[in-house]
Amino acid sequence: MALILVSGLINIETTLQIDSFPLNYTPVCYPFFGVNGSVSGVGYNVTKALAMLGHEVHFTSLIGRDIAAQQVRSALIDIPVSDEHVLNAINHTPQSVILHDRNGRRQIHVDLKDIQQQTYPDEVFERAMAGCDLFALCNINFSRRFLQKARLTGKPIATDVHAIAQLDDEYNLDFMRAAHILFMSDERLPLPPEDWAREVLQAYAPEVVVIGLGAQGALLAIRNENVMQRIPAVTTRPIVNTIGAGDALFSAFLHSYLHSGNPYSAIRRAVVFASYKIGSTSAAEGFLNRDALERMCTERQIDP
Ligand SMILES: Nc1ncnc2c1ncn2[C@@H]1O[C@H](COP(=O)(O)OP(=O)(O)OP(=O)(O)O)[C@@H](O)[C@H]1O
Ligand SMILES: [Mg+2]
Repeated sequence: MALILVSGLINIETTLQIDSFPLNYTPVCYPFFGVNGSVSGVGYNVTKALAMLGHEVHFTSLIGRDIAAQQVRSALIDIPVSDEHVLNAINHTPQSVILHDRNGRRQIHVDLKDIQQQTYPDEVFERAMAGCDLFALCNINFSRRFLQKARLTGKPIATDVHAIAQLDDEYNLDFMRAAHILFMSDERLPLPPEDWAREVLQAYAPEVVVIGLGAQGALLAIRNENVMQRIPAVTTRPIVNTIGAGDALFSAFLHSYLHSGNPYSAIRRAVVFASYKIGSTSAAEGFLNRDALERMCTERQIDP
């Protein structure tokens, strides 16, 4: 078990199941049990996944001074993870609406409210970072100031820059510069993922780069070994909603990589974890616990 600091977004998520995209206009629909609400957000999802996998998490985040804040705190108790470093700093907790079709394709609408203008207090962050083995700093603005503090500890920094499209993307530059473990999505890449990963390794200094390829699986690139490998997706149960697949992949990779130091088995295990996760409706549901992941990986003869 490791002590991991996660800094990232919490939002209240509403999922709506639809038949297919694009959505035709009708004045009213009755999707029985097709509308669901949950506490979610990248920070929350990663925190919950890591806790399910047996780690202790110090979770730094900002939420509203609103009724949703109660829901967030009770969701953290349920995991259970301490809400000590989750601060009521803004008026409104961010919210998202996710439409998902019968094939699990999802469209995300996220309302960050004014969270991008908020700062997280230094002294609270410094308390939270004490003794941590790894820093998972999600690419929300309030994490940005802590990239350098985390680097000074000499512990690894992991981040996910999601649907990136430019190598010198201004918003994500600080995160890409600081990361030892760098995740992203292939969805908006201007180049084939292998070419893109090569450019990322040249432009920045991560040891490990992972690109999520959706139904095609993931691409793993390792700096020191000059290796690039595509790992195909697997099926462990029917897909309901692919929302949060990338967060699941990221979390499970960190879990296994911390344990074994082996990125090749870590990514294969993470693909199993992500495939199971997308059998749930919400981004924050469907995480295997450590033993269940272990069993599934043993069945598939994936090294620890
Ligand atoms: N449609 C799918 N079918 C099978 N596996 C999938 C599918 N979508 C995602 N996965 C699994 O989940 C992993 C992560 O998903 P994906 O590559 O879409 O992440 P991402 O694009 O980085 O993040 P996001 O969650 O924002 O899409 C994939 O590597 C794959 O293993
Ligand atoms: Mg994706």
